[in-house]
Amino acid sequence: MPDGKPIYVLNGPNLNLLGSREPHIYGSATLADIEAAVTKRAGELGHTVVFRQSNIEGELVDWLQEARDKAAAVVLNAAAYTHTSVALHDAIKAIAIPVIETHLSNPAAREDFRHVSLVGKAAKGVIAGFGATSYLLAIEAAAALAKEGQNA
Ligand code: DQA
Repeated sequence: MPDGKPIYVLNGPNLNLLGSREPHIYGSATLADIEAAVTKRAGELGHTVVFRQSNIEGELVDWLQEARDKAAAVVLNAAAYTHTSVALHDAIKAIAIPVIETHLSNPAAREDFRHVSLVGKAAKGVIAGFGATSYLLAIEAAAALAKEGQNA
């Protein structure tokens, strides 16, 4: 059974612009659309969702630390910080709950600077390239890991 804790879905810089931001890459769904879809699917799987977005790296670090005690698992689209942030890498390492790196696009198929993921070197696993559906797949993974009582 799920342990009753929410799944945290944390979103990094520029994801507040989804819907109008490079829609040929990121699709037409807004972040509010994704929040609604994720909340519905998580509910079907027995979880509530805490859904947040920030353009500030340190705020994402604070939320990962908060998730340590409060969340069953974290779905993290760290956006550009994925490729640069030692602080997010270290925060993921510091918390004993599964963190699922998630992307709308497939960074491996894009520019070279997106091929490195400091988040991915600490995360439980990665889901990328399926547009807004990536988030739903990540929720599936998060709920399954929570059900198994898996730690990171
Ligand atoms: C992204 C991929 C990142 O490389 C990029 O910086 C983003 C969005 C994605 O969801 O596809 O902002 O995380």
